[in-house]
Amino acid sequence: MRRALFLFIAAIFGAYSAMAEQTALGSPIVIKFSHVAAPQAHKSLGAVRFKELAEAYTGGRVRIELYPNSQLYKDKEELEALQLGAVEMLAPSLSKFGPLGIKAFEVFDIPYLFRDTAELARITEGPIGKEILGLLEAKGIVGLGYWNNGFKILSAKRPLRQPDDLLGLKMRIQSSRVIEEQMTALGALPQVLAFSEAYQALSSGVVDGTENPPANFYNQKMFEVQPHATMTNHGFLGYALIVNRDFWNGLPADIRSSIERAVREATPYANAEAAKENDEAMAAMLKTGKTAFHDPTEEERAAWTAALKPARARMAERVGVDLVRRIEEDLARPSP
Ligand code: LMR
Repeated sequence: MRRALFLFIAAIFGAYSAMAEQTALGSPIVIKFSHVAAPQAHKSLGAVRFKELAEAYTGGRVRIELYPNSQLYKDKEELEALQLGAVEMLAPSLSKFGPLGIKAFEVFDIPYLFRDTAELARITEGPIGKEILGLLEAKGIVGLGYWNNGFKILSAKRPLRQPDDLLGLKMRIQSSRVIEEQMTALGALPQVLAFSEAYQALSSGVVDGTENPPANFYNQKMFEVQPHATMTNHGFLGYALIVNRDFWNGLPADIRSSIERAVREATPYANAEAAKENDEAMAAMLKTGKTAFHDPTEEERAAWTAALKPARARMAERVGVDLVRRIEEDLARPSP
């Protein structure tokens, strides 16, 4: 009994002295950054660049540990883990914030709202983008910035020449009500599944099709199990770089500004890598010939836009009619 007590006290003393020693040595503040993308994906490359910059700008006082590929948490769990403080940083897709109770992020899912990444940048880098990130605070999260992926293609087990071709197809989607609305408007049956489960669900026939930018199709090998795809470019996929609010507020001010600088400087690199990887992925998939890609004609594009138009009013109601109106007005102004 006395020996057990002795061991217990020694263990506590040991732990405390180890902690004191670490503090004296100035052991780094660890930021665990978890995400679902493959290690070779542009999100991972952006994360590596961010890590290098953040560690350099803080003079090694911060260490960023990267956990790609859903190895720590899947989509839904990672947001819970961040709120609980089990990880400090994430980069989830903008389509995954609805279940947290923040609907505004789903504005980025509205089909054909943005024509290109330049239009997106006008919103994400402007006051509206900042305002949307600010909504995270009430959920214990701080938003540090946005990263692009790209515009989505639609894939399925059968050709998708026109909107009606989706009738009755089970489509894997992210957890966004706007994307759900989009698939329903096309007559499909949307099914929310984690990114890490998408390939398996497609290959086993649990779902018949899906949507994602080419880079994700390629990295997740979805093209191997989807014989048909159409380059609809109907919607955008992007990410928010987010941190646990209490952890963030507890950091010294100079560390916070160094991290913000690292995010700012890693962002153009991450976006350039995203654009490059989407182009390369498309070329590589065309080369394998495993998926028959269809590039819609002008008429077919008009049919996709027309089929999705009526659903836009419902989508606007979901994310905020005023928010959509402000974005449309902003985009209608001549570029500065
Ligand atoms: C998806 O779930 O389809 C994407 O959001 C995954 C990702 O992070 O690119």
